[in-house]
Amino acid sequence: MEFGVKSGNPEKQRSACVVVGVYESRKLSAMGEQLDHISDGYLSNIIRRGDMEGKLGQVLLLHNVPNVMSDRILLIGCGKERDFADSQYKNMIAKVITTLNDTGSMEAVCFFSELNVRGRDIHWKIRQAVESTQDTLYTFDNFKSKSDAARRPLRRITFNVTSRKELTIGENAIKEGLAVSKGTHRARDLANLPPNVANPTYLAEQAQKLSEEYSDVSCEILDESELESMGMGAFVAVSKGSEQPGKLIILKYAGGEADRKPVVLVGKGITFDTGGISLKPGEAMDEMKFDMGGAAGVFGSFVTAVELELPINLIMVIAAAENMPDGRASRPGDIVTSLSGQTIEILNTDAEGRLVLCDALTYVERFEPDVVIDVATLTGACVIALGAHASGLLSNHSPLAHELLNAGKQSGDKAWQLPLWDDYQEQLNSNFADMANIGGKPAGTITAACFLSRFTKKFNWAHLDIAGTAWLSGKAKGSTGRPVPLLTQYLINRCKS
Ligand code: BES
Ligand code: MN
Ligand code: ZN
Repeated sequence: MEFGVKSGNPEKQRSACVVVGVYESRKLSAMGEQLDHISDGYLSNIIRRGDMEGKLGQVLLLHNVPNVMSDRILLIGCGKERDFADSQYKNMIAKVITTLNDTGSMEAVCFFSELNVRGRDIHWKIRQAVESTQDTLYTFDNFKSKSDAARRPLRRITFNVTSRKELTIGENAIKEGLAVSKGTHRARDLANLPPNVANPTYLAEQAQKLSEEYSDVSCEILDESELESMGMGAFVAVSKGSEQPGKLIILKYAGGEADRKPVVLVGKGITFDTGGISLKPGEAMDEMKFDMGGAAGVFGSFVTAVELELPINLIMVIAAAENMPDGRASRPGDIVTSLSGQTIEILNTDAEGRLVLCDALTYVERFEPDVVIDVATLTGACVIALGAHASGLLSNHSPLAHELLNAGKQSGDKAWQLPLWDDYQEQLNSNFADMANIGGKPAGTITAACFLSRFTKKFNWAHLDIAGTAWLSGKAKGSTGRPVPLLTQYLINRCKS
C-alpha cells in the first residue's frame, strides 16, 4: 500500500473515490457539506431520503455525483459526533478500507483529518489511519493453496489536509505509521506461523537474516549446549524436553551514541507450550503456538526501531524453546540452579515461561542496561484479570511504568498496572529450594512477576504480560501484533525527550 497527503478541495479531486464522513443523525462533515454544495444538494437529498443515517460503520457508495470529478463518493457513518473517539475512529477506517478493497476502487482520497477525535491531533489521526489500514488489509494465507486476494485491490490512499503545515505533519505521520505497521506485520507473521515451522531454530534464522539486511544490526545466537555450560539451568530445564534445541537469540542495534546505555527488550519465545509433564488439557491447545508472542512482539518492535533509525542503542533478547513432555523433560519436583545461582523447585512444568525468562534476565545484566522490558504470554490469570483489552504491566521502577502506560494510551495499545508488592513474594516459598516456580491460584499474574523480580534487582525493569492481548481466539483467530504499537511508541517518546 502507498500513502500520501495533499491539501485541496474535495470537488477538485480526480480520484477513483472520495471518502467523507457523516455523523448521526444525517449530519454531513464539513467536507461533505462542500461536496453537497457543489453537487447542488445531491448528497443532502439522498441523506434526507433516509439512505444514510450516519450510524458508525454505515456505508453508502455513490457513483456519478453531479459536478464532482471523482468516479465515486463513499459516505462513511461516524456515529454520534460527540462520541467519536479512538475506537470509533479505528472502526470507521476499517470499514472504509474493506469497502474500498471490495468495491474495486484502487485508490481513494480520504477526508479523515477534519473529523474530530477527542484529544487527538492530525499526526495521531493520520498515523492511526495508516496502521488501521495495514492491519485491516493484513492476510496470512501462505499455507492456503489458493489465495482469496481481491481482484482489484486497494493500492493507494491519500489523506487530505487543510494547510501546508499539515502536509509535513502528515508525511511524518505516514512514515511513523508505516514503520509501526511493518513491525506489527512482522510480529503477526511470526506468531501466526505453525509451530512445526516457527521453532527456535527458525526464529534464530530470522534474527540472523535481519542482521544481514541492516548494517547497524548485529546478531548472536547461543545454542542449548552453550546455555547449559554457561549455567542457565532454568532455561535448559524447559528446552531439554524437546527435540528442538533451545536458543538464546540476541540482536543489537547501535543507533545511539556509543556511550549511551541500551534499552533491552526480552521476549518469551516458547514456540509451543504443551505444558510439559504437567500437560495442558487438549482444548484449544493449538493456540499455544502463540506462546512466542512476546518474542514476536520484541522482534517486531526491533524492526520498527531500526526502520525509523531511532537514535538509541537497542538490544533484543529472545528466549526460544519448545515446552514438550519427553523422557528428558523436567519433572514436577525437579530442582534446578538458575544462572543467578538461585535454586528453583519446578512444581509445575507448565510455568515454563518464567524459567526461560529468569535466565535471560540475568544474562542481560552484562549489557548494563538503562531499562529492561520483558514481554511474555505468561499467565492465564492475566486473561482472567484484563481480558483482551489491556496487557498487564508490572515494574520495579515507577517512572518506567508510567512511560509505558502513557505509550499505551497514546498508541491505543493499552496496558494496566498491577502491584508488585512484597506481600505476594511469600507465595513462592519452597520447602526444598530458594523458590518454587508457582505461587498458587491467587494473583497468578502478580506471583509470576514476583518470580521474575528476583532476577531483575540490578536494573530498572518492567514486565508486560500479553497473554490476553497477543492473539484473538474464535473466528478471528490470529496474532494481533501487540504490543508492538505500545513498545515502539515508548521508544519513539524516549528519543523525543
Ligand atoms: N503460556 C501459558 C500462559 C497462557 C495460558 C497464556 C493461556 C495464554 C492463555 C503459561 O506458560 C502457563 O501455562 N502458565 C500457567 C502457569 C501456572 C501453571 C502457574 C497458567 O497460567 O495456567
Ligand atoms: Mn505453560
Ligand atoms: Zn507458556
